[in-house]
Amino acid sequence: MKYMLAPMEKITDSCFRHICHKYGADLTFTEQIRFETLVKKTKSALERIKLHDNTPTMIQIMGKDEEKLDAFMRYFVPERGFQGFNLNLGCPSQTYVRQGIGSAMIKRPTKVNRMVDTIKNYGYNINIKLRLGVNLSEKREKVYLKLIEKVDADFFVVHARHRSESYERKADWSVFPECVNTGKAIVANGDIQSKEDVEKIREIGCIGVMIGRAAMNNPLIFGQLKDMKLPTLESVKREYIELCNSRDIDCSENELKDTTKFNYK
Ligand SMILES: Cc1cc2nc3c(=O)[nH]c(=O)nc-3n(C[C@H](O)[C@H](O)[C@H](O)COP(=O)(O)O)c2cc1C
Repeated sequence: MKYMLAPMEKITDSCFRHICHKYGADLTFTEQIRFETLVKKTKSALERIKLHDNTPTMIQIMGKDEEKLDAFMRYFVPERGFQGFNLNLGCPSQTYVRQGIGSAMIKRPTKVNRMVDTIKNYGYNINIKLRLGVNLSEKREKVYLKLIEKVDADFFVVHARHRSESYERKADWSVFPECVNTGKAIVANGDIQSKEDVEKIREIGCIGVMIGRAAMNNPLIFGQLKDMKLPTLESVKREYIELCNSRDIDCSENELKDTTKFNYK
């Protein structure tokens, strides 16, 4: 069973990923960025995919212009720690959905497969993170299952909500068994927080769990789930801030630094 730190915008910077990996996460993901932005090679775009150490990291990308994806692949040079790419088919942003990307791309397996092939042609690993569709109707049509069946990615991270569902509704884990039955490697995501949760997911046959908000509140969660010997949360928070300072990374927006927001849900 692999324990993965979820990509989270403005949270999972290189220091946060380092801390989560040091204390138990097997694999981490950068926050999302469009490859149409990455081809412009701006300083801020390149900083978002910079890996500062050998923490095992997937770079999460999204977008739709296949020529730009190819152009990005051509110039991309992997750094230590790089494990491959994650294609984001889960982003719920209205702006992106209107442009046909993020969760709007779940119903386009042929295009997704072409993008996956482009990335593979450059020799990189590629996995996909998806929701269950844009709305309830797409979920009922099982667009997520069709995508998993048709696309040839290394594994699929299934965030068990459709795009129009808020976090107040519990993630629908009942979809995981049918995803596993496709024969593809499935990582479960959505409201996973305890050893009991992990055990349920293991019994279903998923190859891993991805944890987001529970790690934001408590980056030691991975080690706790694995029964590792761990330092206190307070000392880990200090370690995180020191690391950010040493890398000149602004962590002022990160929940981990702002203790008033520490119990964000
Ligand atoms: C603050 C925040 C930022 C997020 N940013 C991203 C992102 O950049 N890419 C992505 O695929 N998902 C993003 N997500 C979704 C998470 O990766 C994850 O799928 C979701 O929070 C459900 O998992 P959880 O219940 O363990 O939090 C974000 C979630 C939060 C709370």
